[in-house]
Amino acid sequence: MAAPRLDLRDNALVVSFADTDGVTYPAIWLRDNCPSALHPDTHERVLDLLSLAEAPRLDEARIEGDAVLLSYADGHVSRMPLALLDAHRPGRPATDPAAIVPELWRADLGVSGIPRFAAEAVMDSDAELEAWMRETARFGLSIIDGLADSADAGMAVAQRIGFLRRTNFGQEFEVISVPKPNNLAYTAIALPLHTDLPNQEVPPGFQFLHCLANAAKGGESIFADGFMIAEDLRSLDPAAFELLSTVPIPFRFHDEDYDIRVREPVIIRDRAGAVTELRYNAHIAGVFDMPAEVMPEYYRAYRALMTLTRDARYRLTFMLQPGEMVVFDNRRALHGREAFDPATGYRHLHGCYVDRGEFLSRLRILARGPAG
Ligand code: OGA
Ligand code: ZN
Repeated sequence: MAAPRLDLRDNALVVSFADTDGVTYPAIWLRDNCPSALHPDTHERVLDLLSLAEAPRLDEARIEGDAVLLSYADGHVSRMPLALLDAHRPGRPATDPAAIVPELWRADLGVSGIPRFAAEAVMDSDAELEAWMRETARFGLSIIDGLADSADAGMAVAQRIGFLRRTNFGQEFEVISVPKPNNLAYTAIALPLHTDLPNQEVPPGFQFLHCLANAAKGGESIFADGFMIAEDLRSLDPAAFELLSTVPIPFRFHDEDYDIRVREPVIIRDRAGAVTELRYNAHIAGVFDMPAEVMPEYYRAYRALMTLTRDARYRLTFMLQPGEMVVFDNRRALHGREAFDPATGYRHLHGCYVDRGEFLSRLRILARGPAG
């Protein structure tokens, strides 16, 4: 990096980088982020902010090699790497190697458009692991194939990313039809498109469903991009989108051992208004409790969303084969299945979750490359 021009102005350092003039760093920020403020091993901040003056006085700034040498009136001298100043320009969030722009899709993506990776390659190669994770984050959905016929094989792929999220259904779960189910997934009936566990304070991030057997008649998997549906709703019916984004509804799972509830909106947006999450699961939505005067409009909005989830323009339907595993962002992709007939053959999916935080952390570590 060519040495930038430095100025001191109003007790702030002003740096003119090659691409932009006048990036301003207030003195208090410079002191707070002085490398000496961090523990040398953990890189965590050990400096007590209150030990500084509210406006430490900056006396001098000059370039020394690849750093800026700053002298303060209290005698402190900082050596701030230019790269650090460049990476943390005030008003511009630092780049994140795990930030992946979602590519929204409809049914015209086609089943053949779902990213597909071989289990062996993902297990053996970090480059392949990273490529698979990036595609999964981009589309919110991928398929791993070539898995061994063992419940551990799919979970081992999930654990290449990170530790598994434990829920009231355990750390791993069996999607099979059982006699006394505590969950509709453990029956043979159809599951309309949904996200799992919206009744949790933080619903699970990525979901893994490894197909061990799918010999029954029926049981096709269904997927749709919830972000696409939400964006289409935003433009087709802004009032419905607004209600679904702002009115909390109760979600509840309860059985003999648990009663897990939250009240949250169906569509979750970030501060910039981008859709970051859907909580949509008609079978564990609780009893709506908004004021009566809002209810008819809310039901209209909820039905508008529901109608889009039934629209073939959004839905990919396919029969998962033994040895395949679907991997999807449970807070983005909507998933479901057709009903199946257990009398015609055995169906068994083995599942687990890895949260978004662990997924993104792993991506950042992989982006560092083999040298670390
Ligand atoms: C589930 C689920 C899909 C399937 O277990 O939550 O959605 O194909 N299962 O059985
Ligand atoms: Zn589900």
